[in-house]
Amino acid sequence: MPARLFLSSGDLVADRRFEFARDLQLKGDLVAAADLLLQATELAPGFVSAWFTLGEIREQLGEHDAAIAAFRKALIADPEDRHGASLHLMLLGEQELSAMPQSYVRALFDQYAPKFETALVDDLGYRGPALLFKAVLAARLAVRKPAFFKRSIDLGCGTGLAASAFASEVDHFIGIDLSPRMIERARATGLYAQLEVADMVQGLRDKPDASADLVLAADAMVYQSDLTPLLREVKRVLATGGLLAFTVETHHGDGVILGEGLRYAHGTGYVRSSIEAAGLNLSRLEDLSARNEDNVPVPGLVVVAGKT
Ligand SMILES: C[S@@+](CC[C@H](N)C(=O)[O-])C[C@H]1O[C@@H](n2cnc3c(N)ncnc32)[C@H](O)[C@@H]1O
Repeated sequence: MPARLFLSSGDLVADRRFEFARDLQLKGDLVAAADLLLQATELAPGFVSAWFTLGEIREQLGEHDAAIAAFRKALIADPEDRHGASLHLMLLGEQELSAMPQSYVRALFDQYAPKFETALVDDLGYRGPALLFKAVLAARLAVRKPAFFKRSIDLGCGTGLAASAFASEVDHFIGIDLSPRMIERARATGLYAQLEVADMVQGLRDKPDASADLVLAADAMVYQSDLTPLLREVKRVLATGGLLAFTVETHHGDGVILGEGLRYAHGTGYVRSSIEAAGLNLSRLEDLSARNEDNVPVPGLVVVAGKT
């Protein structure tokens, strides 16, 4: 997991209380940790890391209302929501399911970047890019077309694992990602002709019509609740005959939910209807897992859709 985000209160004593509280939390003394965090917030009322951690501890203690109150304070202290307090409010049923705060995603992956590949590939058995590659080859084979693409856009490109999987089949890659630290690593691969620090929907909006032959999103749509605006832009940006290939995490019900791991899971019916609503044609939808959690495959879908 990425290093934990810490935003100093600017008050040395409050920061020290926070550190002690974290030690106690990790040792399992949650009540004493909560007490110290309250003291820290009395010294520094805008101390977002303390409010957020207090919210987590209240959650762990099963104190629902107190957890909500602490996460609300964290949101007031940091309206950008770099800790992701709003996601906990969604999980606690206190906020409607909505988009993930961009500052949270950026902070998460900026912290994660140095050990992203070892953590994901070695520890979680990540196989998203390889699954997409196989699915795209199969989709092309089915229509007897070569699996070669002149221009590809890699959404949520991260450190460049998807471009690496498709390198022999693509001429020109554009990578888009919210995290500057992940983009730095993608740049170091030398695989991308162009890299942009941007939100994926915004990045697509800046691209001309019919300017891509392949759009990839490996383990990136798990950070998008509503897929419709994204799929509409993909349809516009794809050339006729072009493909979109992506992975999502899924669940047995309808619609979209936020999982305990703070990633969205999209139901199969939702994925099918969003693709149809965007005017794309579904070529393949397979129940395949892109990664493990606690050594168990996380339920997932590998999807390929085309523009005709
Ligand atoms: C789990 S990583 C996957 C990276 C890469 N696609 C791979 O397969 O290794 C998810 C990436 O999506 C990026 N991301 C999440 N939400 C995004 C958004 N709205 N716009 C652009 N990038 C986003 C994150 O910054 C992160 O680098």
